[in-house]
Amino acid sequence: MELSKKLPIMIVLGVESSCDETGIALYDTQHGLLAHALHSQVAMHEEYGGVVPELASRDHIRRAIPLMEQVFRQAGVPRSAIDAIAYTQGPGLAGALLVGASIACGLGLSLDKPVLGVHHLEGHLLSPLLASDPPEFPFVALLVSGGHTQLMRVDGIGQYTLLGETVDDAAGEAFDKSAKLLGLGYPGGPAISRLADFGDAGVYELPRPMLHSKDLNFSFSGLKTAVLTLVKNRIANICEQDKANVARAFVDAIVDVLVAKCLKALKQTGLKRLVIAGGVGANRQLRDALDAAAQKRRFRVYYPELEFCTDNGAMIAFAGAMRLQINPDAAKRDYAFNVKPRWPLEEIRTA
Ligand code: KG4
Ligand code: ZN
Repeated sequence: MELSKKLPIMIVLGVESSCDETGIALYDTQHGLLAHALHSQVAMHEEYGGVVPELASRDHIRRAIPLMEQVFRQAGVPRSAIDAIAYTQGPGLAGALLVGASIACGLGLSLDKPVLGVHHLEGHLLSPLLASDPPEFPFVALLVSGGHTQLMRVDGIGQYTLLGETVDDAAGEAFDKSAKLLGLGYPGGPAISRLADFGDAGVYELPRPMLHSKDLNFSFSGLKTAVLTLVKNRIANICEQDKANVARAFVDAIVDVLVAKCLKALKQTGLKRLVIAGGVGANRQLRDALDAAAQKRRFRVYYPELEFCTDNGAMIAFAGAMRLQINPDAAKRDYAFNVKPRWPLEEIRTA
């Protein structure tokens, strides 16, 4: 994205390590994304059926520096060329966050560059702005990741108003837990989505929690329990077609709820732009349903590039750069870091 000439031009190094992906990137406010690199720990956590926090932290330590070297090499810029370092300060796994924070602050200290802690969800929220045809403000954003499901009104950088959120499980969590019940691997989202393509619609009906509630909140734990009830005692001898039918029923139910709440949020705010961010935003069935609704109801829906839906360093470098453009003093030469494993997005509002 080309930015206004009046804003300061800078190169920001981004460091993401909040969960099971180590992401490093260099974002230049004049030339866009210079380079980015990612290491996913999925294969390592797979055999445990979920993320093992201690293993995650150790792996971030192993990966971060080589990825950083790769990114500087790819971008063809020396370390001295960066203006600031942005790292994910939270929310996320405490140990994993500490790795990224300590590496970012250590590098900042050695290069005499200021550092800035970035909110992971702000990274997701702004990631569609990295696309070639970015949305203009204001827009409604559906943030659907492994730990969060929120509808936000976004009026500008730092101007976020929470419209609704899940009262229990996040959408990604529902995908992962339901996939596990079906004996699929971790992370379950992509696996259950692929399997659903082979299922027949309507064989099973699953609940659509809070579909008709007046507010913009979500609830997904009942959906997961309904999947459990369906497959209980049968998982050992459930046939592949039936598994696919359950997967289809699950995906249809969750997509219905997510789409209905997005439509309600657009109606409530009167806005015509919808942005989808976070890992579940990579889901094809959700994208198809939203695209169909957008065509019918005449609004526009924006997605991040597929590779920037799930965790990555580019969105952190970008969010850091956007923050610094509106307030260059936001990055400090204060290298005594702390991380925020729990950190509501509303706390970073600037207006
Ligand atoms: O945003 P993200 O990478 O990490 C968090 O910040 O949580 O999101 C990860 C979540 C996981 O729950 C994963 O199963 C889900 O996103 N996910 C998907 C798909 N790709 C990733 N869910 C449904 N369909 C997908 N294609
Ligand atoms: Zn994330």
